[in-house]
Amino acid sequence: MASTPIASKIIPKAARAPIDPAQIEYTSDRQRNAVEALVNEFTIHPQLLQDIKTKFIEGMNKGLKKDGETMAMVTSYVMGRLDGSEVGSYLALDVGGTNLRVVAVHLTGGGEITTRQTKYRIDEKLKVGDAKALFDFMAVCVDSFLDEHQITVRGDTQFELGFTFSFPVLQTSINRGTLISWTKGFNAAGMVGKDPVAYLQDAFNRRHIPVRVAALVNDTVGTLLAHAYNHPDTCMGVILGTGCNAAYIEKIENIAKWKGDASAKEMIINMEFGAFDKEREILPLTMFDNKMDRKSVNPNKQILEKMIAGMYLGEITRNVLLNLIDRRLLFEGNISPDLNQMWTFETAYMSTIEADGSPTLHATRKILESTLNFPSTTMNDRQIVKLIVELVGKRAARLSAAAIAGVLEHTGDWKQKAAIGIDGSLFEYYPSFNTDIMDGLEEVFGPTVRQNVSIGLAQDGSGVGAALCALLAAKHSPN
Ligand code: GLC
Repeated sequence: MASTPIASKIIPKAARAPIDPAQIEYTSDRQRNAVEALVNEFTIHPQLLQDIKTKFIEGMNKGLKKDGETMAMVTSYVMGRLDGSEVGSYLALDVGGTNLRVVAVHLTGGGEITTRQTKYRIDEKLKVGDAKALFDFMAVCVDSFLDEHQITVRGDTQFELGFTFSFPVLQTSINRGTLISWTKGFNAAGMVGKDPVAYLQDAFNRRHIPVRVAALVNDTVGTLLAHAYNHPDTCMGVILGTGCNAAYIEKIENIAKWKGDASAKEMIINMEFGAFDKEREILPLTMFDNKMDRKSVNPNKQILEKMIAGMYLGEITRNVLLNLIDRRLLFEGNISPDLNQMWTFETAYMSTIEADGSPTLHATRKILESTLNFPSTTMNDRQIVKLIVELVGKRAARLSAAAIAGVLEHTGDWKQKAAIGIDGSLFEYYPSFNTDIMDGLEEVFGPTVRQNVSIGLAQDGSGVGAALCALLAAKHSPN
């Protein structure tokens, strides 16, 4: 049984090896002008970062007042805090990233956790097909996980399962809710307005799988809880991965739309911040963003998410590269059939290119020539590709900083010792994402924020957090 450390870790990734635009030997003035225009378009200057943060706080306040606002500010029904002493065994099902995961979580108290997990790939066709088939697939994965790990129940008892379903869901209780919309490339028919827990429970029941869905959890809420299990001063859980979003602890008195239990003091809010600025009032969208948005499965939606999240950054970069190629300002105007295909420039390539500090930009060359099949590249080509990647990556990190700063300013948590747990491939692997975020926070709050606020990797927030949520659900409403 593998032990899963949840504590903040030193993040095992390379730092950005930044390129100095002044060092680029441009092949023409036209090329120089084009690159300078891109630098302008993609840079989030300090004032813009502040303005975005201010608008973001306005969006939060609107969402706390009533349902149906751009940022949904979903009440998660998670009201208790954790102190690390919690014990128990739970199953977790995590759906909403690149893979589906089933996790058996054993909480042993003292902030200690052991887990066993299996990942399953969700076929692209299932994501956009029939909803029932998607939920049946989830149940089958849980069933085969129980078989594989030889986990059985005694008599007619049931496993308690925390269901991390990382989409905007309007929750009506700890294990009930209705899907507001699909995000991140999912679009299974007929699900909007329906309860994902009912679909999942039905799929279990039809197969006689002894599992009860005890809690419905967003990955951000799970991440907050998982981080809080051994950092009790955790105030936020953030996901920076395939998608992006955050959850934080809000005072009940600030949630005007809350009509439930009035004795509760605070509640975790799933912000659904990826939807911010649907109105396109403040975010500096470029034609490259718009091109990607139009071709996505959810055009005009999740505008902030599309500028930050791992699912989209590669495609934005590809659009910029194609534009330069078509103007004969890159690769002498030559295209590779690979790069012509949508979504072929993976965000993972950007991580490698950002970290490439070699004199000849060797790793960048390998991606361009061996992976994307450009017959040859010059140093000038590689430098420009690297600069563009850096512009898109840094913009994403600074927009993440604006959002996190918005929450910290709204709650005032930046003034005291506070921990932020962040999960997701972008935060874990993308060079310097964490430093860019911290730099952005310092721009807004000054140097004290570095002493007060820690941001740490909350690995496996979705799995462990779902288990913790199932535990809290049982504690608060035993049934
Ligand atoms: C999308 C989902 C949201 C989730 C985020 C990160 O924004 O709508 O629920 O938290 O992705 O996975």
